[in-house]
Amino acid sequence: MSTFQAPKGTYDLLPPDSATFLAVRDALAAPLRHSGYGYVETPGFENVDLFARGVGESTDIVTKEMYTLTTKGGDRLALRPEGTASVLRAALEANLHKQGALPVKLWYSGSYYRYERPQKGRYRHFSQIGAEAIGMEDPALDAELIVLADQAYRSLGLRDFRILLNSLGDKECRPVYREALQGFLRGLDLDEDTRRRVDINPLRVLDDKRAEVQRQLADAPLLGDYLCDACRAYHKEVRELLTEEGVSFEDDGRLVRGLDYYSRTTFEFVHDGLGSQSAVGGGGRYDGLSEMIGGPALPSVGWALGVDRTVLALEAEGVTLDLPPSTSVFAVPLGEEARRVLFGVVTQLRRAGVAADFAYGSRGVKGAMKAANRSGARYTLVAGERDLAEGVVQLKDMESGEQNAVPVSEAAEALRKLLA
Ligand code: HAM
Repeated sequence: MSTFQAPKGTYDLLPPDSATFLAVRDALAAPLRHSGYGYVETPGFENVDLFARGVGESTDIVTKEMYTLTTKGGDRLALRPEGTASVLRAALEANLHKQGALPVKLWYSGSYYRYERPQKGRYRHFSQIGAEAIGMEDPALDAELIVLADQAYRSLGLRDFRILLNSLGDKECRPVYREALQGFLRGLDLDEDTRRRVDINPLRVLDDKRAEVQRQLADAPLLGDYLCDACRAYHKEVRELLTEEGVSFEDDGRLVRGLDYYSRTTFEFVHDGLGSQSAVGGGGRYDGLSEMIGGPALPSVGWALGVDRTVLALEAEGVTLDLPPSTSVFAVPLGEEARRVLFGVVTQLRRAGVAADFAYGSRGVKGAMKAANRSGARYTLVAGERDLAEGVVQLKDMESGEQNAVPVSEAAEALRKLLA
């Protein structure tokens, strides 16, 4: 134990659990890599105004949850609380939208930071896999992203998740709804903070989880009833495409997201085994964000899936991933000469693509065999002086317990064949 601990709201990923985390990350990204999305990586911090303008001045993320700092040079930066604003900033900066056919399709993987009240599933440092399709208004693109996320979760074996779907309208119909909602909310018995929110960001009030607020919201007007014809037609097509592809969803007229850039399609993936932090992923269309951060009009859509919560969802469903062992062959040398010979065989195996490890140090045979067992290796190679005198090593199948002498020069090739 050192004097230090991981900061509040964070945790360390350590073996063996970290292997599951990596596999989840890979599985969430796999469908994107097969669907025309190119990998993008942006800095862990950005100009604070990018998020203030992009995510929204009045959102919790910007007002309460950002880690901000001023550099020695006087720049105001923030650790990224989310990926969309950064990825769009990067695409605009590199003029990706002018270089080829639209949409520009990008995916990313990384750490994000929010100064939230920590609890299970809610951390101050967390990990997302994200996808953004930039510069195109096409319901098939919205549907594509939802289908790909569904495919990703299913590929992991998850089943108890639901897709909540809504349309937040556009700059034509949302203001009309906003006003109607404000009118309704002003007639309720709300605390001062919430009344202020009604003035600044009334849609967020719909997301207030407190029972006394939810009770009063039963008759609140729904955005679905205010959608303009264009938004209604767009949403209808997204829904139809999902249905045709066999992806079930629930219409949720109350679904508003914690970020202000959304318009039209919004969705969330919720897992029923996770308690209050049930959203394993979410996203939507953000047709106005590019202009908000100084770019041209570039209607876009995207999502981010939470890796930490997806791991928790797997645990909640009792799904264990079938991970390949990190070591297939473990070498146990008995004596100095055997160390050199087996070190050579292990190097040969690794060069041939076989995962191999070695009993380092001079612990006894018992300790070395324990390490071999713990490694999960299917085969061990053991060699002592007598073996080497005969030019062989002992190859042991850890599953059957069977053991055979194999010529040293053939050991690597024999193992490669056995494991192929
Ligand atoms: P978000 O809903 O804020 O969306 O985050 C997406 C996912 O990240 C959540 O569903 C959740 O699984 C995970 N997540 C968020 N905050 C935490 C936390 N404190 N601890 C653990 N997991 C967390 C966005 O970030 C948008 N950028 C998504 C998007 C992309 N929209 C369009 N494109």
